[in-house]
Amino acid sequence: MMRLTSKSVALIPIIATVATVVIGATLIAPPAANAATTLGAAAQQSGRYFGTAVAAGRLGDSTYTGILNREFDMVTAENEMKMDATEPNQNQFSYGNADRIVNLARNQGKRIRGHALAWHSQQPRWMENMSGTALRNAMLNHVTQVATYYRGKIYAWDVVNEAFADGSGGGRRDSNLQRTGNDWIEAAFRAARAADPGAKLCYNDYNTDDWSHAKTQGVYRMVQDFKSRGVPIDCVGLQSHFNSQSPVPSNYQTTLQNFANLGVDVQITELDIEGSGSSQASNYDRVTRACLAVTRCTGITVWGIRDTDSWRASGTPLLFDGNGNKKAAYNSVLDALNAGGPGPTSTTTTTTTTTTSNDPGTGGCTAAVSLNQWNGGFVATIKVTAGSSALRGWRVTTTLSNGTVTSSWSANGSGTSGTVNWSNVDYNANVPAGQSTEFGFQGNGSGAGLNPSCTAS
Ligand code: G3I
Repeated sequence: MMRLTSKSVALIPIIATVATVVIGATLIAPPAANAATTLGAAAQQSGRYFGTAVAAGRLGDSTYTGILNREFDMVTAENEMKMDATEPNQNQFSYGNADRIVNLARNQGKRIRGHALAWHSQQPRWMENMSGTALRNAMLNHVTQVATYYRGKIYAWDVVNEAFADGSGGGRRDSNLQRTGNDWIEAAFRAARAADPGAKLCYNDYNTDDWSHAKTQGVYRMVQDFKSRGVPIDCVGLQSHFNSQSPVPSNYQTTLQNFANLGVDVQITELDIEGSGSSQASNYDRVTRACLAVTRCTGITVWGIRDTDSWRASGTPLLFDGNGNKKAAYNSVLDALNAGGPGPTSTTTTTTTTTTSNDPGTGGCTAAVSLNQWNGGFVATIKVTAGSSALRGWRVTTTLSNGTVTSSWSANGSGTSGTVNWSNVDYNANVPAGQSTEFGFQGNGSGAGLNPSCTAS
């Protein structure tokens, strides 16, 4: 399969024409001489990452760290950033094991997914029996303290983990946090945004891979609601733990695409697939290709390195065997990533990405749009980036010639069509120099030609 660079993508129409005229035959792909040889490097070819869960207790194992250092460019602490680990006693925070993982990752230029700020499980004993306002405040304090401690070091936080119930209802899971009020999730997201405006904020869950499942639909409706009301959410994590009882669904790519169409990134956050040999390899191939086919599927994390490191070790669900040897599943993922090239494609919608920006000037700002367009509708996500000095407020002007805004998030708009002026909301007015914030809107018709421009205000 031909590996594509951004230059070669631009040349495709020309090459195709020449090929037709001169040899009248299909393009013959050159050998994959430059194929990447590690998962991280292969994923980077399309601007994605490939990560793993890491356990601090295994960092003394040189086989483990050898594979970690070589293969992965994103790291998630398997247990060390959870509530019980980071706040074992109320208001006494403990970051030793988490820091060992964070420091190792940062020293090697790897990025970090934070997991997880608020969860009904793995709570410290003192929190388990709390309720009402005391629990709500303790949870928000935890989110604020931990996200502040790691401010600037985390690519994406799983702000809330596993808050939806399994089964047919599609509603929330009962938990002490849920009993503090249905708005506990959005309160956690707002606290996380205030504490670390640079981190992407994700909702993360399992059994949300099959588009037809009520739980998937429930999470989808929550994200849609958050987007429409300006609750700061940037991404949805699909844990994607698969086995024979819970196989990779045939509509997996549809699920990824439909979440992405809400204007959020999608990440596969805890991938493992029980099995062995070619059937396991082909399932890994399907999952990898599904992510590559969705523009906003920004990366994949496997939940451990060797089979023996897995929480489901008996199911041999990972990419390396207990001795650290690459399995068939490893090769299928690497090949799929190498085949993916830089230009993700979409089968269910017409997706285009347009980027325009204006000159920031001294202390100004730039605006860039990522447009997800399908037949009759669109989602536009606009990234506002501060210039050489911090923003205290910003305004973005867009042009909608053939479309109408139906809802927006994280900004106030002046109208629904023609020239629309957007201004910051309270929580994203302040943007440090060189850093970014995002807002967005969805609409009917076409979002083409938005041509955003930004001014500091
Ligand atoms: O560290 C102690 C050890 O000192 C003690 O002797 C031993 C006795 O049971 O327990 C050890 O702690 C275990 C810990 O993993 C570290 O190995 C806990 O019992 C065990 O419950 C814990 O399991 C973790 C599980 O989350 C807890 O819910 C798994 O490692 C971890 O992989 C798993 O990760 C979760 C994600 O966070 C969310 N999605 C599902 C995923 C798999 O369950």
